[in-house]
Amino acid sequence: MIEIVNLSKSYRKGEVKAVDNLNLKVKAGEIFGFLGPNGAGKTTTIKMMVGLLKPDRGSITINGFDISRQPLEVKKSISYVPESPEIYEKLTGIEYLNFMADVYSVPGAVRREKIPALLDLFSLSGVVGDLIQSYSHGMRQKLILVGALLHEPEVYILDEPMVGLDPRSANNLKNYLRESCSRGKTVFFSTHILEVAERLCHRIGIIHKGRLIACGTLEELRELAESKETLENIFLELTEK
Ligand SMILES: Nc1ncnc2c1ncn2[C@@H]1O[C@H](COP(=O)(O)OP(=O)(O)O)[C@@H](O)[C@H]1O
Ligand SMILES: [Mg+2]
Repeated sequence: MIEIVNLSKSYRKGEVKAVDNLNLKVKAGEIFGFLGPNGAGKTTTIKMMVGLLKPDRGSITINGFDISRQPLEVKKSISYVPESPEIYEKLTGIEYLNFMADVYSVPGAVRREKIPALLDLFSLSGVVGDLIQSYSHGMRQKLILVGALLHEPEVYILDEPMVGLDPRSANNLKNYLRESCSRGKTVFFSTHILEVAERLCHRIGIIHKGRLIACGTLEELRELAESKETLENIFLELTEK
């Protein structure tokens, strides 16, 4: 469960209003797509949700914990995948995964089961012994995903998780997220890939210049826009106004 109330954040002493009075609720068992053009405020919102940036105003509650008052409880109950895969280059893949498993207190038995399964899912089994500095951008992205999926939190917060993934890995991730949600987990992810949002999400929020300009199921968004065909048309129409 995620609840965002009156959230605002600006940069450069108020010059750039990145997030402007955002209100949003995501229920357990829901896949929520956070959509918006470049610079809309998606990453800024997500960084506030996971405790990397402090809001100017407003509150964020995740699993009943307030990010400003109970940051550790929030962090324990989420998986976060950042926008760019900046990662410890001097570790091997498996060292990084064990480090992540240590951070999230994943028991040995769970590691022995989940690590090989996830490596297989993202075709990383063959390279997990190599130093991360030898990995391509996509391999780093996938390793971060595996690290984030090792523990099974209530809430997944993913910033553009499909970027850089090959089609098979992207499809496997979508299936993994769908399956997690059917067990009551919550997924919040940002994307500018409309097709992903259209296929995967129960509800979609469109953010534009820091403001949530539309939010609802695909059907509800269709009602809002005059061109009622594809999400692409709805998106273009709403972000033009
Ligand atoms: N560290 C920063 N300093 C100044 N401006 C920033 C910073 N980070 C983001 N911005 C600005 O805030 C706005 C929202 O950016 P961001 O949240 O990264 O959008 P998105 O993830 O939707 O592309 C943009 O105008 C961006 O240029
Ligand atoms: Mg971003």
